[in-house]
Amino acid sequence: MNVVTYFDKVFSVYISKKEIEQILDNLASSINEHYKNVVGDVVLVSILDGSFIFMADLVRRLDFEFDIEFVKIRSYEDMESTGNIELLLELHKDIKGKHVLVVEDVVDTGLTIEQFIAQIHGEEPASIRVCTLLSKPDVHNDIIHIDYIGKEIPPAFVIGYGLDINGKARNLDAIYQLET
Ligand code: IMP
Ligand code: MG
Repeated sequence: MNVVTYFDKVFSVYISKKEIEQILDNLASSINEHYKNVVGDVVLVSILDGSFIFMADLVRRLDFEFDIEFVKIRSYEDMESTGNIELLLELHKDIKGKHVLVVEDVVDTGLTIEQFIAQIHGEEPASIRVCTLLSKPDVHNDIIHIDYIGKEIPPAFVIGYGLDINGKARNLDAIYQLET
C-alpha cells in the first residue's frame, strides 16, 4: 500500500516500516546509553493517544528498569493544533524525585510538550527528558528542548503508526504524508 485515502485526502508512504524500525533502534540505543548510568527511579510517560504504538515498540528495546505511565492530552482538532491542551487522563503515580522521560509521537507546534513539561515541573521530578518519534522543526522553531528525536520532518501532516486523522489511520504500519 503506497497510497491511502482518508476523508478524501490522499497520503503516500513517507517512512517505511523498515525505516521506523531503524529509527527505534537508534533512539533506544541513545536512551539506554543515558539511563544505564542514572541513579534512582525512572518513569516513562507516554502521551496518548498518538504515542501508544511508538511507546509499545520503544519500551521493548530498553534494557534498564522503569515504570510506565500514560497521560492523555488533546490539542489537535482535524488537522490543526488548537493552541490549548486539555488533560483528559492525568498522571497517577507520584513523580517527585524520579527521572521522567516523556514519550511523544510528534512535536509540531511544541505546545503540548511545553505545557505538559511546565505542569510536571511543579511536581519536582529529579529530571525531565523528552523523546519524540517525529519533530517538525520548521513549525516549532526549537522553542523546546527535545533530548531524543527519531526523525525531523517537514511541516506536512502525517498519519499512521499511531498518528491519526480524526481518529482514523492509527493502525497503518508505515507513516504516510499528505499529498499536496
Ligand atoms: P503540538 O502541540 O502542536 O506539538 O502537537 C502535538 C500533537 O498534535 C501530537 O501529540 C499529535 O497527536 C498531534 N499532531 C501534530 N502533528 C500531527 C500530524 O502531522 N499528524 C497527526 N497528528 C499530529
Ligand atoms: Mg496526539
